Amino acid sequence: MHKADLLRALPRARRNIAARAAAKDPAVIAVAKQYGEMYWDGPREYGYGGYRDDGRWRPVARDVISHFALRPGMRVLDVGCGKGFLIKALMLELPGLDVFGIDISLYALRRCPEDIAGRVVRGCADSLPFPDGSFDCVLSLNTIHNLARPRAVRAMAEIQRLSGGRAFVQVDSYLTPAQREIFESWVLTAEFHDYPDGWLRVFTEAGYGGDYDWTIIG
Ligand SMILES: C[S@@+](CC[C@H](N)C(=O)[O-])C[C@H]1O[C@@H](n2cnc3c(N)ncnc32)[C@H](O)[C@@H]1O
Repeated sequence: MHKADLLRALPRARRNIAARAAAKDPAVIAVAKQYGEMYWDGPREYGYGGYRDDGRWRPVARDVISHFALRPGMRVLDVGCGKGFLIKALMLELPGLDVFGIDISLYALRRCPEDIAGRVVRGCADSLPFPDGSFDCVLSLNTIHNLARPRAVRAMAEIQRLSGGRAFVQVDSYLTPAQREIFESWVLTAEFHDYPDGWLRVFTEAGYGGDYDWTIIG
């Protein structure tokens, strides 16, 4: 298990923490957790505030390909693939790579690029409908914290089961109480979050042997 900064190429997200904190209430959170139109393409208070492919996933895809020494013919799964932008980027960067995705959001899956529509399926990260060892690499970016802790453990075990540990998972975390406070003002959908040592306990309980990193705001 190694820390690996595979999202280093992404531009820093613009976040108005004060505006989000002011707008956040249980009704907004409930809408965000439906992962529907409001979460993806509604006002920023509800989620992404409009999520389009602006090319930012191409350099991330190059870093993933190089980190895992991926080759044409290998099979990759993106757990929590959203609108499928990383799937598309991986297949453009390495023609012949066989990339698939799974996500809970029907809204997002229906807005995947047309040429990958047959590669995505609706499902939940804690019950992945694929046989043991069926992927050469499994990725999951900013998704597993959306499950409560026992289900997050199951999801990590599922990722291990499919990948044999050739995997990368990034989740929300914080290093200081001040960062935790900022995170808690911002967060809408996370069901579980913790300092890195708390996440590492989740990984160990799940028998996860893959790589990981933290998304830290502030
Ligand atoms: C912050 S978005 C990240 C999307 C994408 N991985 C990215 O980095 O752009 C969180 C994603 O988790 C998905 N999600 C939430 N709960 C899930 C679950 N239980 N199983 C699978 N996907 C889930 C959401 O639909 C959404 O696509």
